[in-house]
Amino acid sequence: MARVGDEVLSQFEKKEEVAQPVCTGKKLRVGIIGTGWIAESHIESYKRMPDVEIVAGADLIPGKAEAFFKRYGVEGVHLYPDHKSMLDNEELDAVSVCTYNMQHAPCTIYALEKGVNVLLEKPMCVTTEEAVEIMRAEKKSGKVLSIGFQPRLDENMKMIKKIVDSGALGEIYYIQTGGGRRRGIPNSTFIEKKTAGIGALGDIGCYSLDMVLNAIGYPKPLTVTGYTSDFFGKSYEYSKPENACRFNVDDFAAAFIRLEGGIILDFRIAWAMHLDTPGDTIIMGKKGSLRIPSTECWNGSVGGPMILYTDVAGAHTQMEIPIIPDDGVGLFDKKIRSFLDAVKNGTPAPVPTSQILYNQAIIDGINKSAQLGREIEIQIPEI
Ligand SMILES: NC(=O)c1ccc[n+]([C@@H]2O[C@H](COP(=O)([O-])OP(=O)(O)OC[C@H]3O[C@@H](n4cnc5c(N)ncnc54)[C@H](O)[C@@H]3O)[C@@H](O)[C@H]2O)c1
Repeated sequence: MARVGDEVLSQFEKKEEVAQPVCTGKKLRVGIIGTGWIAESHIESYKRMPDVEIVAGADLIPGKAEAFFKRYGVEGVHLYPDHKSMLDNEELDAVSVCTYNMQHAPCTIYALEKGVNVLLEKPMCVTTEEAVEIMRAEKKSGKVLSIGFQPRLDENMKMIKKIVDSGALGEIYYIQTGGGRRRGIPNSTFIEKKTAGIGALGDIGCYSLDMVLNAIGYPKPLTVTGYTSDFFGKSYEYSKPENACRFNVDDFAAAFIRLEGGIILDFRIAWAMHLDTPGDTIIMGKKGSLRIPSTECWNGSVGGPMILYTDVAGAHTQMEIPIIPDDGVGLFDKKIRSFLDAVKNGTPAPVPTSQILYNQAIIDGINKSAQLGREIEIQIPEI
């Protein structure tokens, strides 16, 4: 029986690839670098993959990797005190880089130099220069490097791109995106420059940028005027004293970005604010516009049914795009599977660096513009 809303959704449909059965003949030898919080989602998914053998793990904190693999009941894993000793001593097909942001570039570059395929957690890194160095290593290695943006695999997020690609909005000229939390500053390694490098911008800002940039085909960013602040993170009123005294990244960022093709991107992201949401995402085109409701805790998802506004025979109309129900397969399983399939089949990375370079260049541009207090041109060196 047709689902309610199927006729609405089917207008934007393109043929989907059919999932192929997983060949388990030769298992992929996988390692995990950084056994903190997000590594838990990686190991849970790897354990569900029939063609994976988890053989190695590394963490800088003594005893952390050992406790991690024990907790997940994975035995016989070779443990190392850092990424270098692991990559120097193991024959691996793939690694997940699950370290804090400041270690993304060194770990990824070293793995690629050792000829290992990499699934790198988001954000890609901290600066544009690091992103360029990562891509040079990727190019030289010929290996698969995919960036961990699992929200892209959500059917509702895919729908945004399908709507743009269908032409229903016409030529896009203005986008507003971002979001955030009323109170939601993480702690641990997220709040210091020496580990995270960037705050809300890198933690959740990269998701909202990816949501819209992926939908419109990742045009090149040209200029950015950025602003960042840290009022809540540094405040003893809103943060625990032990966190407030360490806090030295952004907890709010806003920017006005010019993209190739004459598109304006208006962006804001908050880990904390005196507001429920700084606004829905809107994509405005010459034929129609799309409103994507913000979520309460911005984590890269659609907050409710999207609305498509257009004129029909001169009349203003609006159409609700029904939420597509969850298919029961977790986004992390989809992210890990799509990476492993690219490794096995020698196909392009599911979330390629050629796109995420622009995401990173915007984030870095916001930081640099905020420091200078003026608009800057985004310069990306030749890879
Ligand atoms: N995709 C998602 O949904 C998602 C969610 C949360 C976090 N993340 C990303 O995952 C990354 C890690 O976040 P987290 O919350 O797990 O951080 P975390 O601080 O809990 O864990 C990071 C671990 O990496 C280890 N580490 C750092 N450098 C290392 C190195 N060179 N070799 C070995 N180990 C090293 C640290 O000791 C630490 O245990 C961040 O970049 C974050 O943005 C992604």
